[in-house]
Amino acid sequence: MRRKLVVGNWKMNGNRLTNTELLAGVEEAGPYTADVAVCAPFPYLSEVALSLQAKRIGWGAQDCSAHESGAYTGEVSAEMLAEFGCRFVIVGHSERRAYHAESDQLVADKAKIALKHNLTPIVCVGETLAEREANQTDAIVKRQMSAVIHTLGHCISQIVVAYEPVWAIGTGLTATPEQAQAVHALLRVQLHAATPKSDQMQILYGGSVKPDNAAALFSQPDIDGGLIGGASLKAADFVAICRAAR
Ligand code: PGA
Repeated sequence: MRRKLVVGNWKMNGNRLTNTELLAGVEEAGPYTADVAVCAPFPYLSEVALSLQAKRIGWGAQDCSAHESGAYTGEVSAEMLAEFGCRFVIVGHSERRAYHAESDQLVADKAKIALKHNLTPIVCVGETLAEREANQTDAIVKRQMSAVIHTLGHCISQIVVAYEPVWAIGTGLTATPEQAQAVHALLRVQLHAATPKSDQMQILYGGSVKPDNAAALFSQPDIDGGLIGGASLKAADFVAICRAAR
């Protein structure tokens, strides 16, 4: 039986005061049946780490460099994230792929260096609306996933996958539970060909998950929790979503 995992992706939102209030609200409403974590902007990681230390909520970052260290102005290494107690790092989010031209191979390299530093990469895959309408969903997510499988080899079993259809992110449009399940099942079959441990891997759904649609999504056999953007910024909503994962 796979444990469910719910991860908040704060993106570039919040400040020290709102972060403190948000974390207090999420923490007070726990403990949760599911594993819960938040991925905060880099400057707040140290404070998030302090306030969540010894609590049951994990934390992580939203990106990392594919390089170990050196002359990469503005980048943050996986080793630095590990030093701040991060358990997770999101890699290959569609906003990084779209606005920073991140390739499948770069995303795979980031996942690899994250694992090297004992972080769990949450590798995002997903198709755009145009790709879905052209019936390319399966081909796109398989191509994105296969770069990571190829680069990580048998270590692929140590990652978390997030299926996030680009058209559902921040739009209020959600994949139906059946649409999401179909892609999750496809990904699990692909992972199965790469590792006998695919049955134990967590595949999260992301894209306009809200308190009123979370339970239906999380009840699908291959949906092991969620990566939550907008709704992770309001304690009441995030708490409701975390409680829907059991
Ligand atoms: P959303 O974002 O929940 O606001 O749609 C999800 C994500 O981008 O991870």
